[in-house]
Amino acid sequence: MPPPSNNPKRDDIRAKIAQELRNPGSRSGKPSRGKSRPTDSARAKPGKRPPMGIMTTTLWEYPSQHYDDHLGRKSQGSKDYAGASPSWAIWQLLQRYTRTGDTVVDPMCGSGTTLDVCKDLGRKGIGFDLNPQRPQITHADARELPMPDETADFVFIDPPYSTHIDYSDDERCIGKLDASAPMEDDDVMMGHAYYESMDMVIAEIDRILKPGAHMGLYVSDSFKKHKGKKSGTFMPIGFELFAIMREYFEPIDIISVVRHNQKLQRGNWHKAAEEQNFFLRGFNYMFIMKKPS
Ligand SMILES: C[S@@+](CC[C@H](N)C(=O)[O-])C[C@H]1O[C@@H](n2cnc3c(N)ncnc32)[C@H](O)[C@@H]1O
Repeated sequence: MPPPSNNPKRDDIRAKIAQELRNPGSRSGKPSRGKSRPTDSARAKPGKRPPMGIMTTTLWEYPSQHYDDHLGRKSQGSKDYAGASPSWAIWQLLQRYTRTGDTVVDPMCGSGTTLDVCKDLGRKGIGFDLNPQRPQITHADARELPMPDETADFVFIDPPYSTHIDYSDDERCIGKLDASAPMEDDDVMMGHAYYESMDMVIAEIDRILKPGAHMGLYVSDSFKKHKGKKSGTFMPIGFELFAIMREYFEPIDIISVVRHNQKLQRGNWHKAAEEQNFFLRGFNYMFIMKKPS
């Protein structure tokens, strides 16, 4: 506790905060409820899969990439596909922003995680990708989707975060564009080609979404270490993409999704981050936007 100030009101607030930290729920006078919300981040126990329930804060955490769905399946999409999205996070979005029978589009569907969550929840899933991993996903460039205007009730997208994963040999793959590429000639920012392509993808999402419908974009910032040096380049991909999306959509909220990447368990990564003074990525953004009605 900090020493008392000469402001009794402030001291009172500090005492209440200290009490709340020691005993959550006490401040309101209500005892903490025994009945926990199974998916609250604070209660997520590693290795255990709590039943799914709507998360109510902007900090989302779940101890597994997948959830046990009502069809009895224990995974959605493929755990072997590098860069697959956490299915439980897509579940959260679909529960809030769609209804049974709605059309949900994933323009970069990869291993089909979104399609599996749609099947579980009775939504009509449509997936596109340049590197489709199953026949239900249509081979298409997300910058030019073979879909009519204003026909999607929701769009989920998890794009490449710069060049961190080699998805395919397709030259059109946005994962080949470096978000830290130095500026050239008329470029207005580093990584110009990456952001220009993502702007085209976001414009396509705007075109296919029905007015008043929502979208979720899941992304992480990136840090590229310079080989053999103590320095590196930070790429604020989340904030840049958020700025682009604001040109098209109304922002609804920004969620921080705790990462449980296995690489984060490696002690040598933490040692390097400490010794070389950089940060490992601990969360992804889930940006939720709405197309104006
Ligand atoms: C992060 S992964 C998506 C993972 C997917 N949500 C899943 O759970 O499996 C990014 C995907 O974007 C795809 N991609 C990259 N550039 C693309 C483009 N121009 N058009 C369509 N898909 C693209 C890649 O092939 C990759 O599958």
